[in-house]
Amino acid sequence: MPLVGLGTWQMTGRRCQAAVRHALEVGYRHLDTATMYRNERDVGRAIRDSGVPREQVFVTTKLPPGAAGRERRTLDDSLRALGTEYVDLWLVHWPPRGRALLSTWKELLAARDQGLARAVGVSNYSPAQLDELIDATGVAPQVNQIPWAPALYDPALADDHRRRGVVLEGYSPFKNTDLRHPVLVEIAARHQVTPAQVVVRWHVDHEVVVIPKSATPERIAANLDVLGFSLDAGELARIDGLARVS
Ligand SMILES: NC(=O)c1ccc[n+]([C@@H]2O[C@H](COP(=O)([O-])OP(=O)(O)OC[C@H]3O[C@@H](n4cnc5c(N)ncnc54)[C@H](OP(=O)(O)O)[C@@H]3O)[C@@H](O)[C@H]2O)c1
Repeated sequence: MPLVGLGTWQMTGRRCQAAVRHALEVGYRHLDTATMYRNERDVGRAIRDSGVPREQVFVTTKLPPGAAGRERRTLDDSLRALGTEYVDLWLVHWPPRGRALLSTWKELLAARDQGLARAVGVSNYSPAQLDELIDATGVAPQVNQIPWAPALYDPALADDHRRRGVVLEGYSPFKNTDLRHPVLVEIAARHQVTPAQVVVRWHVDHEVVVIPKSATPERIAANLDVLGFSLDAGELARIDGLARVS
C-alpha cells in the first residue's frame, strides 16, 4: 500500500478524471474513492486513459454504512463503475448506525476470500469497535481510515492500531491543519518546501498512510514530492506538539 495516495472526495466528472490522470502521470499509484463520492466511474476511466497497468495502481473504495445488508451488490456496482475485477482495499466507510456490525464485516471477509478485494478494512472505527470485530472473527481489519493531522496527533491511538496490526490511514490532512502555522512555515522554509509538503512528510515519517486531495495540478504533484527531504527528531516533535489532544 503506497504511503501517499490521492484523495478524491468532492471531485466528480471531468475534473475528477483530469486530477486522477495527472496524479498517475506524476507518479501516484494509490487512489482513494468511495461509493458515496459518486466518482468511481471517473476514477476507473482515468486509470484506463492513463495507460498505467491496473495492477500497478492501489485502488480503495468504501461501502456506505447505509448499504449494510447489501454489501455484495454494492461491491459489484463499485467494480462495474471502476471497470475492474477487484479492488485493492474495500472499507466500511463508517460504522453502520454507529455499530461495528459483525454481519457486514463477515461480508467483507467473504469478498476478500473470493478475490474481489485484495484487502479489507474499516473507516472511522474506534479501537473498541476494532476489538469487537477481532474478538468475533479472529481477523483484524487490515486498515482503519480515520482523520489524522498534526492537530489531531494522538500517539496512544496510533499505538492502539499498531498493537492490533491495523494500518492507520489518515484522512483530511490539510482540512484539519493551519498551513500558515509558524512551526510549519519555519520548518518548510528550512527544507525549501511548502507547509503542505511538511504535513505529508510528517505522516510518512510516522508511517501513517496519507491521502491528500487536490484538483490543482501543481498541488497534486507537490503533495507527492516529499521524498527529497525528511524531518529530524526535533522537527517531528515540534509538529507532534501542535496536537490539540494530549
Ligand atoms: N473515510 C472517510 O470518512 C473520509 C472522510 C474525509 C476524507 N476522506 C478521504 O481523504 C481524502 C483527503 O481528505 P479531504 O479531501 O477531506 O481533505 P484534504 O486532503 O485535507 O484537503 C483538501 C483541500 O486542501 C487543498 N489542498 C490540496 N493540496 C494543497 C496544497 N499543497 N496546499 C494547499 N492546499 C492544498 C485542496 O484544494 P484544491 O483541490 O483546490 O487544490 C482542498 O481544498 C478525501 O479526498 C477522501 O478520499 C475519507
